[in-house]
Amino acid sequence: MTLELLRQFKCSQSVIEHCQAVAKKALEISRKFSVDSELVKNGALLHDIGRGKTHGIEHAVVGAGILKDLGFSREMVNIVERHIGAGIPLEEAKSLGLPPKDYLPLTLNEKIVAHADNLINGVKEVHIDFVIEKWEKRLGYNHPSIERLINLHREIIDKNYSPSPKK
Ligand SMILES: [Fe+2]
Repeated sequence: MTLELLRQFKCSQSVIEHCQAVAKKALEISRKFSVDSELVKNGALLHDIGRGKTHGIEHAVVGAGILKDLGFSREMVNIVERHIGAGIPLEEAKSLGLPPKDYLPLTLNEKIVAHADNLINGVKEVHIDFVIEKWEKRLGYNHPSIERLINLHREIIDKNYSPSPKK
């Protein structure tokens, strides 16, 4: 049912497989918490539905709009809208040209999907150190999103995590 929606909204096979891998990881993470695992799974499966229209950062807003129009719950809409990076605060969102608002994941469901997505590269699970390195290369070493990424990892995966020292 959910997968059919991805096809219906023109997501490529690779996006669909990515969404399935993220859903598997999100479900795994959700077992540690008392959350609605069905909601987490469906949110993860649909998190990239906006990629049928665009691969820009706005795919989250586009995807949230699709789910809203289809009558999905506010919770599902928020999971999709707030899954980008480790969340994007208002000022950064403005500079990225997104509709001006906060895109920070607030609930555990939202955090789990956003971070499961961070830990899945394509269809493959990757170590958080790999993700940090990738973001540092793309955004710059001191970009505030790196700290948000580390904090998110500590909050839902490993509270004792500290990044490997730079070589
Ligand atoms: Fe995405």
